[in-house]
Amino acid sequence: MSQIAIELRELVAADIAAVMHIEQRSHSHPAAESNILPSLTGADISIAAVNDGQVIGFYIASQVLDEVTLTDIAVLPEFQGQGIGRRLLVDMLTRAEAAGGKHLFLEVRASNMAAQALYRSEGFNELGVRHGYYPGADGREDAVIMGTSLAL
Ligand SMILES: CC(C)(COP(=O)(O)OP(=O)(O)OC[C@H]1O[C@@H](n2cnc3c(N)ncnc32)[C@H](O)[C@@H]1OP(=O)(O)O)[C@@H](O)C(=O)NCCC(=O)NCCS
Repeated sequence: MSQIAIELRELVAADIAAVMHIEQRSHSHPAAESNILPSLTGADISIAAVNDGQVIGFYIASQVLDEVTLTDIAVLPEFQGQGIGRRLLVDMLTRAEAAGGKHLFLEVRASNMAAQALYRSEGFNELGVRHGYYPGADGREDAVIMGTSLAL
């Protein structure tokens, strides 16, 4: 459980500055605003973790039929390690199931052991590797493809 009080709510377009701040602080290669903004206004599932009025974490997932893909999840560095990422991921699993999702997928950098540990602890398994998928600090980096199935 999180030690700090957070509420989860849907992201809206007005949250884009806060989301980009988290994106840029938490990722080595942040996504562009032009890639994230449509997810805040369109059909994607996009959820904020809010502490004392401040968006401190978020996730974005997309659904096609019964397949749900987690495309982004991030928590501000100073709020990491307090259970917020897990609350976001569990919320994604809950919402995906409620929306008829059965098969969940994500991609994660091979070096991102913290995220992989979180995903494994919530039931995700490694399905494969996309070699050289991500730009890295020193050349390209592999993506680990992970997935899980909800109770059918
Ligand atoms: C991945 C991320 C969202 C996790 O958020 P968080 O709030 O720090 O996670 P939690 O505190 O809920 O921890 C959940 C689990 O993650 C794992 N974890 C978190 N930090 C870790 C670390 N530094 N080292 C190893 N495992 C770690 C643990 O398994 C932990 O469970 P435990 O506390 O029972 O041991 C966060 O680290 C982050 O924003 N990282 C940068 C963005 C990113 O890499 N996103 C994923 C892209 S695929």
